[in-house]
Amino acid sequence: MMVPHLGEEEAEAAAAAVRSGWVAQGPRVAEFEQAFSARVGARHGVAVSSCTTALHLALIAVGVGRGDEVVVPSFSFIATANAVRYLGAEPVFADVDPYTGNLVPETVAEVLGPRTRAVIAVHQGGVPADIRALTSLLEPRGIPVVEDAACAVGSILYGEPVGAGALIAAWSFHPRKLLTTGEGGMVTSDHADWAARLRRLREHGMNISAADRHASSGPVFEHYLEVGFNYRMTDIQAAVGLVQLGRLDELIGRRRLLAARYHELLDGVPGLRAVRDPDHGQGNYQSFWVLLDEEFPGGRDAALERLAARGISARRGIMAAHLEPAYQDTKHVDLPVTERLTRDSLILPLFHTMTAAQQERVVAALLEPVRGAER
Ligand SMILES: Cc1ncc(COP(=O)(O)O)c(C=O)c1O
Repeated sequence: MMVPHLGEEEAEAAAAAVRSGWVAQGPRVAEFEQAFSARVGARHGVAVSSCTTALHLALIAVGVGRGDEVVVPSFSFIATANAVRYLGAEPVFADVDPYTGNLVPETVAEVLGPRTRAVIAVHQGGVPADIRALTSLLEPRGIPVVEDAACAVGSILYGEPVGAGALIAAWSFHPRKLLTTGEGGMVTSDHADWAARLRRLREHGMNISAADRHASSGPVFEHYLEVGFNYRMTDIQAAVGLVQLGRLDELIGRRRLLAARYHELLDGVPGLRAVRDPDHGQGNYQSFWVLLDEEFPGGRDAALERLAARGISARRGIMAAHLEPAYQDTKHVDLPVTERLTRDSLILPLFHTMTAAQQERVVAALLEPVRGAER
């Protein structure tokens, strides 16, 4: 499905971090924060242990607390909704656009209420959400938009990288993502005060970072300003991240090329629609999903079984949090598009070293009943 593109350079960088003797959060994390935030067009980056912890901190930064409501798409990995619950707040599920899989002003407007404290806009599967449109709805109401950019490193929104101009964004470096550090995440923002606070919060609420303590020649008496967390990234991870960041353009270029080839092979197939770039930007094709409708013989589950039987690893489409036991008691509006996308879509394998022959094999297995019917 996805194979992380890691090589000798990453291995060497990790080894160099180990040999340096500084393996926890240190100079390489600071360097990675600077390089990553510059790449996505944000002033500050705060490296953390995952996107889940990045979302938790981002929600704290914008002031979400107990009893608040936060609008989120149900159509997302469960961590998006979970981060809201960590704060004693309630996720309020909104439906998504059928083409992008992202929140849009119409679906968000439907669920806003007096307790809405924030909205998490997910750039689902790397397809950029129209943050400009969402902000024009929400800014006049004083509701901040937190961007869940877990999947969107290198995606483009209105000609700029996703992250540029974002109020606050959360990123993932899990191996399923384009740029990986094993596990890891980042919060980016232009707000210096938020970045300073989140740096403390990821490190137990300490007012002096471990790096500054070690750099000091005299004794240091640190204080714990508020209850924090251990959400640190290690220098070993950051060393790998720096190498991966240097490869990002190559990684995205390759994914877009492979996606274009899938489009060529799948264009015009009755009953099948593949994810595409929206008018407002360009995706990184983190996930190449296809939606099958009633016209497609056998439907989604049969397609997944067929692919598995041919030794091809595909996945069901993006999940819907409201259909999971953890959220079964959460009240929500009707979510017809979310339910349709999650029921009828699947994600095709797409990885850096994938060959044209492998793509043709995937498509042949997927389209077997269609081609059979055509014969
Ligand atoms: C949209 C979205 N948000 C959050 C996450 C959580 O990321 P992490 O695994 O880095 O915590 C994921 C991971 O798949 C995701 O897809």
